[in-house]
Amino acid sequence: MILGLRVSQLKATNPHFRWSGGEKDAETIFSALGNSDVDYIHLSDDDAATSGFGEGTMTMSKAVKKFTDVSVIACGSLSNPEKAASLIDQQAADFVAIARQALANPDTPNRVRKNRNLDDFDKEKIILPKAYVKDFELEQELVRED
Ligand SMILES: Cc1cc2nc3c(=O)[nH]c(=O)nc-3n(C[C@H](O)[C@H](O)[C@H](O)COP(=O)(O)O)c2cc1C
Repeated sequence: MILGLRVSQLKATNPHFRWSGGEKDAETIFSALGNSDVDYIHLSDDDAATSGFGEGTMTMSKAVKKFTDVSVIACGSLSNPEKAASLIDQQAADFVAIARQALANPDTPNRVRKNRNLDDFDKEKIILPKAYVKDFELEQELVRED
């Protein structure tokens, strides 16, 4: 069995919350997770490509890389494929994940592969007034693999 864990500094009740000890807290938390049975850590951040713990600090995924040997999935504002790929190229993450963009474009990988435009995430349309799967989502034409 593969065991993964989702880790975020942000709280539903406080989207600006950050660990008060910054990188030092990251070392404590990620080292403990790295010494546990966890196989991968799936992060969530505002922007996975920017400093995770205040100005001039490393990204959260880089911290996982530095303090553990487990695989890390970066997530947060990685809707630009080049931006997402650069995290992998820099070995700052093993995988990248997209949330809102995948809601707007469930066929994101195929669109990127085929150089098709990606639709913007329209919060009003997709998750309001309730985040259920709407008829237009079931009816949309998806870009498929060849
Ligand atoms: C409608 C919605 C519901 C979400 N629900 C959860 C959740 O239940 N658990 C969780 O860990 N993250 C949840 N998230 C956060 C996403 O998994 C993701 O970490 C965040 O949106 C940042 O990625 P993005 O910039 O690619 O959207 C949710 C995000 C959205 C937009």
